[in-house]
Amino acid sequence: MPINIKIRDNGPYLVEGEFTLTDAQGNPVEVKKAALCRCGGSTMKPFCDGTHSKIGFKGANEAVQESDPAAAHSSGGTSST
Ligand code: FES
Repeated sequence: MPINIKIRDNGPYLVEGEFTLTDAQGNPVEVKKAALCRCGGSTMKPFCDGTHSKIGFKGANEAVQESDPAAAHSSGGTSST
């Protein structure tokens, strides 16, 4: 089953499908479905604990195409305003 990641409105990333999450110590955790925090406020990171609702988190809801690092480098790495 492919992994699907869905962005919840002003909430976590919902990840569906079996995957291995590796913690900072290198310990693998097998996961089938998870809500991963993207607001930074969870006390159960990397998992969502609902804090996003309490702090009024407003997140981007559209995926943005990753910029081309080579193009950024050739233009000095800055963007126009
Ligand atoms: S996204 Fe839910 S606690 Fe951060």
